[in-house]
Amino acid sequence: MAVENTLSIIKPDATKRNLTGLINAKFENAGLKIIAQKRMQLSKSMAEKFYEIHKNRPFYNNLVDFMISGPIIAQVLRGDNAVNLNRTIMGATNPQEAEEGTIRKEFAESIEANSVHGSDSLENAHVEIAFFFSDIELIY
Ligand code: CMP
Repeated sequence: MAVENTLSIIKPDATKRNLTGLINAKFENAGLKIIAQKRMQLSKSMAEKFYEIHKNRPFYNNLVDFMISGPIIAQVLRGDNAVNLNRTIMGATNPQEAEEGTIRKEFAESIEANSVHGSDSLENAHVEIAFFFSDIELIY
């Protein structure tokens, strides 16, 4: 299986409840390595740009406001099949549909405040990682 990098964001609902360590343990226990990580306060323009693909969706403005409502942790996860493995570890976008043991089942508050974001394809992972990190910040 191919070794991949994927972007993960621990969202404000989770940083506010001090869940960073418990969420990181889920990644590490599943075999993903955190090769870059930074705690940030997103500006409105950064959040708008990051979620630009959703700008015509009815939830876009609320999503942007939520993403700037507190600190986030941007991180790069690396491992075999990292993009899809991370999506399995996160669980479904809507926590009501998420499987037992997933991050969103255990921690998410709602479909919006759903604790984590993860890249949905290898192509998007490259774009999203470059949004937050330069190559020299990825420490293998
Ligand atoms: P994420 O994986 O970060 O990608 C886009 C985000 O939009 C998603 O997680 C949710 O937080 C949010 N989202 C998706 N669908 C809805 C929805 N129907 N209502 C509110 N927020 C949503």
